[in-house]
Amino acid sequence: MGKKLLLDKVGVAGIQKYDVYRREGGYAAVEKALKALTPEIILDEVKKSGLRGRGGAGFPTGMKWSFLAKPPGVPRHLVCNADESEPGTFKDRYLMEKLPHLLIEGMITSSFALGANTSYIYIRGEYAYIYKILETAIQEAYKAGWLGKNILGTGYDLDLYMQIGAGAYICGEETALLESLEGKRGNPRIKPPFPAIAGLWGRPTVVNNVETLMAVVPIINFGGEAYSKIGIGRSTGTKLISASGHINKPGVYEIDLGLPVEEFIYSQEYCGGILGGRKMKAVVAGGSSVPILPTELILRTAKGEPRLMTYESLGDGGFATGTMLGSGGFIVMDESTSIVKNLYTFSRFYHHESCGQCSPCREGTGWMEKILHKVLSGHGTLRDIDLLWDIQQKIDGKTICPLGEAAAWPVASAIRHFRSEFEDFVKNPQSIQDVKHYYRLTGEKA
Ligand SMILES: Cc1cc2nc3c(=O)[nH]c(=O)nc-3n(C[C@H](O)[C@H](O)[C@H](O)COP(=O)(O)O)c2cc1C
Repeated sequence: MGKKLLLDKVGVAGIQKYDVYRREGGYAAVEKALKALTPEIILDEVKKSGLRGRGGAGFPTGMKWSFLAKPPGVPRHLVCNADESEPGTFKDRYLMEKLPHLLIEGMITSSFALGANTSYIYIRGEYAYIYKILETAIQEAYKAGWLGKNILGTGYDLDLYMQIGAGAYICGEETALLESLEGKRGNPRIKPPFPAIAGLWGRPTVVNNVETLMAVVPIINFGGEAYSKIGIGRSTGTKLISASGHINKPGVYEIDLGLPVEEFIYSQEYCGGILGGRKMKAVVAGGSSVPILPTELILRTAKGEPRLMTYESLGDGGFATGTMLGSGGFIVMDESTSIVKNLYTFSRFYHHESCGQCSPCREGTGWMEKILHKVLSGHGTLRDIDLLWDIQQKIDGKTICPLGEAAAWPVASAIRHFRSEFEDFVKNPQSIQDVKHYYRLTGEKA
């Protein structure tokens, strides 16, 4: 098995087109799955692979699939979550733009395994240009007989539809996505029931991320066991990382899980070190929702061990000293970064994107934004820092969906690790100049 499982063909000219993709060995997984395997065997391979959902939560994919209810006569659905809107995460965009047929191949293979005959891709509204790329690829797949009735003469039918979102981060939460797909306002549902029991139109549904579904292709081609040999422990396979911020080589990288964080940041193969040779200050490792860590904790765990790019190692120490791999949105900040200003930007985002259903999130995200604005404009007090801490605690774990936590964790971690910076903003009027500059840049009113 090659090192790059998803991106190995990304440089092949014309790989977006069906003929080139097929010539390069594309659709072999569908052929194998439909002709030589059964849905049970595919499920077993996915379980053996140890694949965990790449959308952020890292839930084992095989286990999720095994929860799918199968009441007789009731249609089941597979829905691909392509709503990618987490600040710092842009790997699904890259994957879909470069390898549209890999997603279709992964969806056909997975739909067959789940016994779904109608599947959907729910794609972020701002990805309209990728919608067009995927639409062309889907038409090509229909024409070549990979979609539609009686695929490969096996009697298996599959229709694949796309739905474009309307620019709401919350619609990436899987039950809000299902509501939106049903034509309603994208409010998350109370669980249980989980989508595996009552999902799209009340039918058993699996929702998986773009990268997760693409990873099914190499798992079927090479076998679940071979896939599980890449990585460390319960973090198997490869992972796409969206790297941004103050690094020399921002971009999308496919890494073997288990790569040391230090190597990822400093080696020429990946981020190529910090811009201008400056010092690193902090990293948000998994998209804006995960706790921020200062340099010493992102490079080494509290036990002094090298931090690795795995679910377990990044989580080591809990939130006191650790963070999460999340969706792999790796934002690197150098010593010139203001943690408070960065947090304000994140907090504005979460306030704007809260659906408003749960009071702690609806009200709390607004309060956090306002208090941070107050601190940034030079009117903050030391008590405001404690108030911020108190509010995030009152959101965390008290909402229908995890957007509340996503808003609370960045605030908690910023105060936990960088409290002195908040105090500086309260005490040092010089910082206010930076804020004025910020408003000039954004054109917002102070
Ligand atoms: C506010 C919010 C936004 C989310 N956005 C996305 C998203 O854009 N893409 C995604 O795959 N998962 C997103 N998730 C996670 C999904 O709810 C769900 O866990 C995921 O689609 C499951 O797929 P996976 O098991 O393949 O990771 C989001 C969750 C929350 C709470």
